[in-house]
Amino acid sequence: MWTEEYISAVQLILTALAVFCPVFLIWWNWQTAGRGFRSIPSKGSLGWLIIGETLSVVRCTGEFTFERWLRERLQKYGTMFKSHVFLRPTIVMTTPEEVKFVLVDPHKQMINCPPPSLKGILGNSSIFVLEGKEHRDVYKIVNDSVLMRELKTKTSDFSRVMRHSLSSWEGRTVDVAGAMQKIIFKIMTLNFFGIPWEDEIAERIGTRLQACTQGLTSLPIYFPGTVFYKASNARKEVDQIVLPIIRKLRSTETSGGSSEYASSAARLPYQNLLDFELNGEKISDTAVCDILLSPILTGNQGPSTVVTLAIYHLTKNPSILQRAQAEVDRIRKQKEELGETDLSVSDLKDLKYLTQVFNEVLRIATVVPAVGRIATEDIHFNGYVIPKGWFMLVPFMLTHMDPEFYPEPSKFDPDRFETPPDPGKFFPFGRGNRTCVGRDFTKLVVLMALYNILSDFTWDVVRCSGKFKSLPTVQMIGGYHISIKSRTVLP
Ligand code: HEM
Repeated sequence: MWTEEYISAVQLILTALAVFCPVFLIWWNWQTAGRGFRSIPSKGSLGWLIIGETLSVVRCTGEFTFERWLRERLQKYGTMFKSHVFLRPTIVMTTPEEVKFVLVDPHKQMINCPPPSLKGILGNSSIFVLEGKEHRDVYKIVNDSVLMRELKTKTSDFSRVMRHSLSSWEGRTVDVAGAMQKIIFKIMTLNFFGIPWEDEIAERIGTRLQACTQGLTSLPIYFPGTVFYKASNARKEVDQIVLPIIRKLRSTETSGGSSEYASSAARLPYQNLLDFELNGEKISDTAVCDILLSPILTGNQGPSTVVTLAIYHLTKNPSILQRAQAEVDRIRKQKEELGETDLSVSDLKDLKYLTQVFNEVLRIATVVPAVGRIATEDIHFNGYVIPKGWFMLVPFMLTHMDPEFYPEPSKFDPDRFETPPDPGKFFPFGRGNRTCVGRDFTKLVVLMALYNILSDFTWDVVRCSGKFKSLPTVQMIGGYHISIKSRTVLP
């Protein structure tokens, strides 16, 4: 007979099944996502519901690097595998051919995917957010303004800032990345806004820009106390300082008069920008600000990291340091004989070994280790289909650490760049229509910094963890602190 206990046990089992079955089905659907699609890469794991494998990616610091995360999966699944990161089903593509396909996007089937925090702080007219024609036009203006041929006319100004700022390092202990970042900020404010670094305005913008930078990869929660809240407010303060300058430039343009900023503006992308049309309308002042701020905010950390890592590797390899120093001393002597102090663009080609050091740092520590795009339609590639809406992640750092292309990849060896790098196997600045606009600028300021540091200083390492975090960009955990002494060069 059906006892009451029996009935409640059956009820319990049925209730459990009613709860468990849908959960199981959702989970099963999640794990097998994409298998219904013809030829989607079936290998890989989508991880947990909704969060996917995101936590395991953001945990990649110190010993467990992003490279290790990738290698574990490469071994299990092959060069192209699926995952689920940052709330999106993802295909990770790792060979040079796969990386090139995504970066070049030959059939225009992909869009950029800046994190919401970056979008919030840089604004809707940022080069990182724009797509299609708008992106191409803005890219051209910004890119042209920082190519070597443009930078040529600005190097003596940059050099003056660099030498003056570095002179304050003498006799002190500095955290190289932080101290270098401040110098790069000054140079960038000069370059993009035409505001001289001695100017009180540059000082005011500088501190606010630093706050903005910190928010670029934060959680996009606008609530008092959060990093994003502080960064967003700092951006508003920057606007309050910069917008009047842009307005003044516009009124000077229309009235034909001159302003205190007119001479600086003559060297800037302002003129093209002020007449530029965005979405069929004359560009707004805020959009001009978005466009000029984007390279400053996203580009200030990279060069400082490269300088830090160069000093780190040179210190660990005394024979390489000696060769670099000998080259710097030789160039410096030549310049002294000509009565010159500042490094010029034409001197860069003579800094051959230092350029090899620069390339080797970019290889061994791919500063931006990966980028991503979203498929705007189903994409057919090498017999696979990448469904519309999926994220494509290309960690090009793996190519730079592939022993097939770079024997003994963990060894710091600038000699591997005695001949210029093969562009198919070396993309620290990306490739295609979103190639880094700051590549020439980075080379110039990094070589300028190393030239001055190597020729004027010696140093002892005070604090160095030797551990790195690789996402979103490579940085040494705890900083790299060195105590600086002046260097006497024998004649
Ligand atoms: C070590 C230094 C740097 C590295 C390794 C680096 C790396 C990169 C990479 C890999 C990209 C491509 C992103 C993509 O394809 O989605 C990129 C884009 C970009 N970089 Fe850099 N960068 C550096 C310095 C700079 C500097 C100094 C500036 C500014 C002067 C700058 C401005 C930009 C801008 C504006 C873009 C966006 C291009 C676009 O989306 O159209 N970068 N960078």
